[in-house]
Amino acid sequence: MDSTVTGTLALSVFTAVLGSMEFGYNIGVINAPQKIIEKDYNATWMHRYNEPISEGTLTSLWSLSVAIFSIGGMLSSFCVGFVSEWLGRRKAMLINNLLAFIGGTLMGMSKLCRSFEMMILGRFIIGAYCGLASGLTPMYVGEIAPTSLRGALGTLHQLAIVTGILLAQILGLESLLGSDELWPVLMGFTIMPTVLQMSLLPFCPESPRFLYIIRCQEHHAKSGLRRLTGRQDVGDMLAEMKEEKRRMDMERKVSIPELFRSSLYRQPIIISILLQLSQQLSGINAIFYYSTSIFTKAGVQSPVYATVGAGVVNCAFTVVSLFLVERMGRRTLHMLGLAGMCICAIIMTIALALLETVPSMSYISMLAIFGFVAFFEIGPGPIPWFFCSRVVLSRSEAGYFFTFNKSLFDIFRLQDLCGPYVFLIFAALLLFFLIFTFFRVPETQGKTFDQIAANFHHNLGGTMDMDLDMDLDKPSTELDYLGDDSNN
Ligand SMILES: *[C@@H]1O[C@H](CO)[C@@H](O)[C@H](O)[C@H]1NC(C)=O
Repeated sequence: MDSTVTGTLALSVFTAVLGSMEFGYNIGVINAPQKIIEKDYNATWMHRYNEPISEGTLTSLWSLSVAIFSIGGMLSSFCVGFVSEWLGRRKAMLINNLLAFIGGTLMGMSKLCRSFEMMILGRFIIGAYCGLASGLTPMYVGEIAPTSLRGALGTLHQLAIVTGILLAQILGLESLLGSDELWPVLMGFTIMPTVLQMSLLPFCPESPRFLYIIRCQEHHAKSGLRRLTGRQDVGDMLAEMKEEKRRMDMERKVSIPELFRSSLYRQPIIISILLQLSQQLSGINAIFYYSTSIFTKAGVQSPVYATVGAGVVNCAFTVVSLFLVERMGRRTLHMLGLAGMCICAIIMTIALALLETVPSMSYISMLAIFGFVAFFEIGPGPIPWFFCSRVVLSRSEAGYFFTFNKSLFDIFRLQDLCGPYVFLIFAALLLFFLIFTFFRVPETQGKTFDQIAANFHHNLGGTMDMDLDMDLDKPSTELDYLGDDSNN
């Protein structure tokens, strides 16, 4: 198996993950400058209506500015499947950049134009960009990477997201761009990766898999493969795709209602949905969006720096988990992560409750938040993807369902409640997911593809196919499948 990284491959992967970085950037960017932007909303209100904004209106406007990002992302992630087949992966990414450009410009100009509507609209449009990017990037990277590098290159998507979050948090420091005058630059900065991606994309080849399997352009697919691998003879890869296409043409279409009605699919789907929920309802989004105000409430001296600290922990543990995932079972890691987060959430609640009487509790809550983030990146952050992309049904309605789900859950970050006891709710949810994982999720580490596939086709009559394209897995030796063990 060829595993050299050619210049073209490196350039293409780099260009694609700029989109993931942008996604992360826009998750992290509204965290630190919240107070400053709220002050400007107030000033705009004063200017227009000659009276200060009410507390309630301001909170609503701000929450809307934060949350509308998710709504844009949710809507656009419905279109990932359609757009990527219609335009092709590369052109879809290219055109998607227009959204980022418009969104970034609107946000960057909103202060100048004294319009919070522009900010809100900009957040919506950039959210739409991110919804598409979070589907297109892993798809493209997964398709251009040779099998032996697919796992390693796939993780770059995750890494680019956390790097983007960290970059936004650092630039959001008051001494950099998070100040009264410069916050529009902080918002508009999101255009930079866009411009870079737009100028590099023309040098990247279209996904050969797309060209061959969907467009049936064998000739173009071949030349793409040659550029990506740097080899003249790409016959083996083409044969692989031929085999995949043949299997896909044979498949029966499975509709979404059928998925839930059929007992064959129900269990794996319930497991993958619950694993996704365990990621989204873990409370991590409250941290990514509101850590600065949580740190302020917890009495931390310099909340913005603490937020940057959380970003560093986030990045560091993303790397740590890459190594752990090779060595420990996924089920074990997921349970370890959930348990750790649950304990940190309880400690955080106690620390917040005791803050009045014991001032040093602010350090404890800060450490608890760092721990919370670290355990997230060990378990609920990366692990659900290993399970879920495995159940994608090729070329069926259900394929879209999962593409949609992936991006939807990725982007559904609407929790803006963060009173002192809200973490008890998360603790309870985390405990529930821990128990669920313990009883219902099988360990799949160490099973070979052939074992799993044989099992799978035996059980399901060969109607469902595993998608090997756009996930974070290493090939063949450690593929996993869920829900099978209980059947035999
Ligand atoms: C809005 O600004 C005015 C002063 O310009 C201030 O008195 C008022 O408290 C501010 N309102 C909010 C909700 O921050």
